[in-house]
Amino acid sequence: MTTTDADLDTGARSPGVSYQDLLDADTHPVPDVLRLESAKYFGSEDVPIERYTSREWHRKEVDQMWSKVWQFACREEHIPKAGDYIVYDIAEHSFLVMRQEDGSIKSYPNACLHRGRQLKEYDGHCSEIRCPFHGFAWQLDGQLHDVPAAWDFPHVDQRPDDFTLPECSVDTWAGFVFINPDPDAAPLSEHLGDTMEHFEVWDLENRFVEGHVSRVIEANWKIAQEAFCEAYHVNATHPQILTYLGDTNSQVDVFGQCARVITPGGTPSPLLGDDSGISEQEMLRSMLDIRVGQEAPFDVPDGKTARQVAAAASRERWRPMVGDRVDQMSDSEMMDSLDYTVFPNFHPWGAFNRIVYRFRPNGDDHRSCIMEVFFLSPFAGDRPPPAEEVKLGVHDDWNNAAVLGMLAKVFQQDVFNMAKVQKGLETTRKPGVTFSNYQESKIRWLHTLLGEWLNDDVAVSVGTGAAARSTL
Ligand code: FES
Ligand SMILES: [Fe+2]
Repeated sequence: MTTTDADLDTGARSPGVSYQDLLDADTHPVPDVLRLESAKYFGSEDVPIERYTSREWHRKEVDQMWSKVWQFACREEHIPKAGDYIVYDIAEHSFLVMRQEDGSIKSYPNACLHRGRQLKEYDGHCSEIRCPFHGFAWQLDGQLHDVPAAWDFPHVDQRPDDFTLPECSVDTWAGFVFINPDPDAAPLSEHLGDTMEHFEVWDLENRFVEGHVSRVIEANWKIAQEAFCEAYHVNATHPQILTYLGDTNSQVDVFGQCARVITPGGTPSPLLGDDSGISEQEMLRSMLDIRVGQEAPFDVPDGKTARQVAAAASRERWRPMVGDRVDQMSDSEMMDSLDYTVFPNFHPWGAFNRIVYRFRPNGDDHRSCIMEVFFLSPFAGDRPPPAEEVKLGVHDDWNNAAVLGMLAKVFQQDVFNMAKVQKGLETTRKPGVTFSNYQESKIRWLHTLLGEWLNDDVAVSVGTGAAARSTL
C-alpha cells in the first residue's frame, strides 16, 4: 500500500501527546500560524550517497544552484553606514555586499576588472573600492573613477560599461540581507513565499545579533544542515534532554517555500514510554539543569505543569525587552523549538528561540563546511551593535563560545557525529541514505528542491514544484 499525504496527516505518528494537543492546553492565545498542519509525503526512496561525496555533484551545486539562488549574506545592521561592506563567500566565489550613499545595498562579484584580484578580503568600511594590486578604484556605486596612469588605458575609457562593477541581485527581508549572484533573479519575495507571512507575528527585524559563532566541520554542508532538520536524533545524540523534550512528537510541516519542525518542550519524550514516571517537578529540574542535592529556584505548584511554569518564567525573561506583548504570547512560543528552513541553507527560528543557522561549503571543498549560529535577540532602547563573529576551527570546542550558553554542549554532541557520517558515507556499500517518511520529511523536501535545481529527480519521487528559479 502506498503512503500518501493523508496517511501522514492522520496515521503515521508517534504515540503520546501531539503538538496540537499541547496547543489545546495552552494557557495563552495561540497564533494561527502554529495551528497550521501541512504534512507532506515525498516518497520513501533512498537519496544517493553521491549527493554528499561526489565532486561532480558539488560542481553541479555550485554552477546550477549556488550561482543562481537567493542566499542570506548578512544582517542590515552589519552594514549600517554608506561604505560599510561585508565579504560573502560561497564555494570558491566571493561577493561584496555594500551599503550605498542613498541607504540601498548593492552586491558585486569581489573581483577587480583590471587583472582580477579580489577587491576586499575582510569586512570593513571604505570611501571608495580601490584594488590593492595596481590601484584601479571604483565609487561605492560601482562606477570606475580612477585608473593610475590612465594614459596607458585609452581602451578602458572606450568601454565604460565593461569597467563598471557588475551587480548581483540584492534584497532584504526582516533585517536579513539576501544576495543572488544572478542579476536577473526572480524576486526574493517569490523565493521566501509563505515564510514572510509566517514570521509576521515574530518581528525578526527588531532584533540584534547578540551572538555569531562559526565552526568548520569536516563534512559536506548538507550532512551538517540535515543534523539540524529533525529531532529524531535526540534520543541517541542528546539523551540528557529526553526527560523534557517531545522529540518524536515533533510536528513537521512543509509549505510552499518553507518547512518547519516544531519540537515541543516541557513534555517528556514518547521514547521513554508511558510508565517513565517522570514528575512535573523532575521535568522542571531537568530543564533548569538542577543537580541532585541542589534547590530549584522555583517549584511546580499543584495543578500546574512544568511546561506552564517554565513558559511563565520565560515570559518574565523577555518582558524587559518586549514589554507586555509577552502576555499575548502562547506557552508554545515560550517553550517550543520553532525551527523553520528556507532552501537552500537558511534556518530562522520563530518566536524568541533566537537561533538562525546557516550552512555553506567551506570554500570549494565538498567534504568540509562552515556552520554558523546567529542569536537574534530582542532589545529595549537603542539597537546594540552586532556581536563579532567567533570563529571556531575544525578542532575547537563549541564551549569556547561563551555566548551559546547551555546550547554549546548540545552543538558539541551534534558535531561529534558529522565527520563520522562523512567517513561512513565514503565507506559504505549501500548506495543511498534512508530517511523516515515523516520525522525526516524536511530533509526529503530539501533534497527534492535540490534535485529540481540540479535537474536530478532520482532521489525523491514527488516534487513540490515550488522552487523559485532564476530565469537563467
Ligand atoms: S588587478 Fe586590480 S588594479 Fe590591477
Ligand atoms: Fe541535535
